[in-house]
Amino acid sequence: MSASRARQGEPSSIDQGSARDIYRALMKEPLSPDVRTASRAFLTEQLANAARLPAEMPFNPDAITQWMEQGATRTAEQYADYLQLRKKGQGRLYFSNRSHALSFLQRIAPTKLVDGAWLYGFLQHWPDDRFYPLIRTYLEELGDGDPAQNHVVLYQRLLARYGCEPLPELSDAHYAQGALQLALGYNAEHFIPEIIGYNLGYEQLPLHLLISAFELDELGIDPYYFTLHVTVDNASTGHARKAVQMLLNVLPTDGSRRRFMDRVVNGFRLNDLGIGATDVVESFDLEQELLEMLARKRAFGQHVHSDYCVIGGRTVNEWLADPDKVSEFLQAMVTHGWIKRDQDPVNSRFWQVIDGKTAPMFGVFSLYEKQLIHDWIAGSWLNQGVAVHGPGELSGSKPLHPKKTVRRRAAPGSAQRLPLKSLDGRSADLDSDVSSLERELAALPDELRMNRLIGLLAPDKHATGAGLLAARLFSAALG
Ligand SMILES: [Fe+2]
Ligand SMILES: [Fe+2]
Repeated sequence: MSASRARQGEPSSIDQGSARDIYRALMKEPLSPDVRTASRAFLTEQLANAARLPAEMPFNPDAITQWMEQGATRTAEQYADYLQLRKKGQGRLYFSNRSHALSFLQRIAPTKLVDGAWLYGFLQHWPDDRFYPLIRTYLEELGDGDPAQNHVVLYQRLLARYGCEPLPELSDAHYAQGALQLALGYNAEHFIPEIIGYNLGYEQLPLHLLISAFELDELGIDPYYFTLHVTVDNASTGHARKAVQMLLNVLPTDGSRRRFMDRVVNGFRLNDLGIGATDVVESFDLEQELLEMLARKRAFGQHVHSDYCVIGGRTVNEWLADPDKVSEFLQAMVTHGWIKRDQDPVNSRFWQVIDGKTAPMFGVFSLYEKQLIHDWIAGSWLNQGVAVHGPGELSGSKPLHPKKTVRRRAAPGSAQRLPLKSLDGRSADLDSDVSSLERELAALPDELRMNRLIGLLAPDKHATGAGLLAARLFSAALG
């Protein structure tokens, strides 16, 4: 039963074994005591699971900086090897096509939409200088209140821009990392060493981030969210360095040091729970994804088609009436010439009725859904050196030399940045809320004001107009 029902006073409990339940409950402030208890139990259980994994970071704090630098060098070398292979003509390592890449963005979304959340609980320690490195990291995740730099806002915009919303039903494993991050953020008082260790792991630059950014860009998908992390998480001055600073700031000098480091290392291991980026990449099955999407759509379309349209002896409404017939319907469209696979989708009648502003079914499918249909129809045609692009850009598309499809990587500040108009907390609707909040905050004494700001910097709020204002004020107050 959901946490929201618990808050309405109904007798209920959260399934603490369900990462998705924990995730959803922690993304709805204010949290009930039940939710807090369940999230702590969830975390304790996950830490017990983590303890069975090998330790990939040193237990000796003096060895961490060198270990981190060696890791960064190794990643850079592996990425250079990857680029070399690509230069020699090897195909993409991760994404077979554009829908594969967009599906990846959806499947990692539960984690990305709570980026930084594991550090939320440290904000209350703002008077204590030792916490400054990781409070600064949290504020940087929030873009210091600038929506164009707030990582969660950036990811929301990325999903919206490519029609990846709403997210499909994802497994519990897809919520594991997000739930862990939120649970750490809301239980900071009990898990300081574990949060430091988790942060140390999360802020190391992984190879998959570099490869994803490169291949997204190649497929014409804005890689800025990913390239941004290449710069902000770097080991020399970025979040990875701050992660080490924070550890050294709070490391005990007495006999409890070893126990503290054991807990740091176990927090580090939490990074390996749930489903990893490369597992997400490998789990994509285009046809399966397409069939699931069509099965979801079926419910909306089953009565709205004209009975004049008969394919394979059945009307479209008859095909859509049966949930088990989606695959057969697709096959019937191939058999009866509505879909011509392995060639430019513009040749397929089915594609013609859904793509383009004058198409009879214009607007029925989201960009992502159209991309699935497009890529499934196109099949091997996509491997013939044709342009990689999305639906809506397809009319008159002609095969291009593969080299022409590779666009330059977007640098921060370049024209490819995500459009963020209405997200700066200054749109008409938000203006009045934000101004009344400004007045309320100005009237509060310092400590209460900081507490009020911390409330607005919670993972479910910081990407709103009020949350962005709070981040600007909190950053300014810390100096
Ligand atoms: Fe981030
Ligand atoms: Fe970071």
